[in-house]
Amino acid sequence: MKRTVVTMPGDGIGGAVLDEALRVLEAAGFEADYVHADIGWEFWKSEGNPLPKRTLDLLEKHRIALFGAITSKPKAKALGELAPELQGRGHVYYSPIVAMRQHFDLDICTRPCRAFKGNPLNFIRRGPGGVVEEPPVDAVIFRQNTEGLYGGVEWTDPPDNVYSALLSHPKFIANFGSVPKAELAVSTRIFTRGACNRIVRAAFEYAKKHGYGSVTVCEKPNVIRETSGMMLEVAKNIATDYDGIKLWDTNIDAQMMWLTKNPEDYGVIVSGNMFGDIVSDGFAGLVGGLGFACSANIGDRVAVFEPTHGSAPKYAEYEESIVNPIAMILSACMMLDHIGETDMSARIMRAIEKVVADGEVRTYDMLKLRGCQEVLQQGAASTRQMGDAVIAAMEDV
Ligand code: NAI
Ligand code: MG
Repeated sequence: MKRTVVTMPGDGIGGAVLDEALRVLEAAGFEADYVHADIGWEFWKSEGNPLPKRTLDLLEKHRIALFGAITSKPKAKALGELAPELQGRGHVYYSPIVAMRQHFDLDICTRPCRAFKGNPLNFIRRGPGGVVEEPPVDAVIFRQNTEGLYGGVEWTDPPDNVYSALLSHPKFIANFGSVPKAELAVSTRIFTRGACNRIVRAAFEYAKKHGYGSVTVCEKPNVIRETSGMMLEVAKNIATDYDGIKLWDTNIDAQMMWLTKNPEDYGVIVSGNMFGDIVSDGFAGLVGGLGFACSANIGDRVAVFEPTHGSAPKYAEYEESIVNPIAMILSACMMLDHIGETDMSARIMRAIEKVVADGEVRTYDMLKLRGCQEVLQQGAASTRQMGDAVIAAMEDV
């Protein structure tokens, strides 16, 4: 069956990595019509909206999308770059990827962090007797994708009704009561039981389907009692439905330390939005960094697949792109898995495994070079050459 997939290259390196993913998909025999959709900085500047309605309509219609990356800039800079005719008309910049997740309620974010054998970027440590160990890292982070600290409910100099609500809390009076209202910045962390249920359930289902022995709730319920507490309580309830899968809980700060000591002990991890963002970057750093970090954003109707890296503007204008397309290609594999094309996805994965293990074709990050145009003369593969290598390896796997 021929599919229709929305493609959103976005800004910076987004287009270069997406091109390689599309070439790999084609080589794997995936038949699709691709429909381009506009997103990102260019559309903020020219239209005052980085996520135009026509893009939302295409996503609503076709439901499956591949997304590259976008550029976001702080408030004042964003306003400064707006087209002169749009200035002063009340446009406010927002992150289109966060907005897209919220608009379609893409509340389940999955970020697998699996080490490929032979990747020089894999985490190593010294074991007993000074032996160098390279533990097999295989963690899959489930990040609640729409609420919490990224929910967007925030104020500087909060309005009077918000301020008086805050004053009704004894801790607010004790700790902040003497601070002038205009000096206050407040970002809320709202969790809902429904969303906690969905993300924890998704994590357990994944663990069951893929044979993981544990689900770890990574939050901070000893301090952030209400929100983290709700996530943990929900997890304790849901865990009773899954015999044989252990429920662990860790605090985000301790987790970040443990993942540099014994990362192989963790399987599926589930967190709220901000901590999920943090812990997934932490694990990504153990398995090759941003060039290997893929993700899926899944809702009931729409699913968007994207590398977790950004637009890397400093490499965007290179005549020949140097960045690693593997994160984007892995994200395309997640799309294939989502729509049931698991054989195709597995073949692409084997091809990536082979390219990494053979070690002949490596982008600059894999060679631990500083990114610059000259890396291509220093033996690094270009984005295109890495795509070629994966396509060639598919013949052998
Ligand atoms: P970034 O992920 O764009 O780049 C950070 C560094 O990681 C790069 O300078 C580069 O050294 C490395 N890197 C990233 N992707 C790579 C790849 N495929 N291969 C090899 N190396 C890679 O993050 P940064 O610099 O913090 O943000 C740049 C822009 O991207 C900002 O405007 C930010 O808001 C945006 N951003 C967008 C995201 C998205 O679209 N989902 C996510 C993160 C940042
Ligand atoms: Mg992040």
